[in-house]
Amino acid sequence: MARPEKHILVCTHSRPKDDPKGCCADRGGKEAAETFARELGDRDLWGRFKLNTTSCLGVCEFGASVLVYPDNVMYKEVQADDVKTIIEEHLLGGNPVEALKVPADVW
Ligand code: FES
Repeated sequence: MARPEKHILVCTHSRPKDDPKGCCADRGGKEAAETFARELGDRDLWGRFKLNTTSCLGVCEFGASVLVYPDNVMYKEVQADDVKTIIEEHLLGGNPVEALKVPADVW
């Protein structure tokens, strides 16, 4: 397997409903991961980018959280509708989506 240009980690971690931290599973993480998978497939991008769902990335209050390496960019509150923007502007265009980034004092 060739090394991917970028690795996309989508948090789909789940917690009990009464947990005060909440979780990305309840904030659209699974839908975001499914949309990434569909869009990468439709655009024939699996050879360039690697996608994995993951457990907690540590910024639960900003879920659904998406981390892109090697760029070290953490996205917040990612919903399915944001996925195309991240793919087009960041993954393909090389420009991280500033409006979706977790605040710099957090990540
Ligand atoms: S549950 Fe997703 S970052 Fe913690």
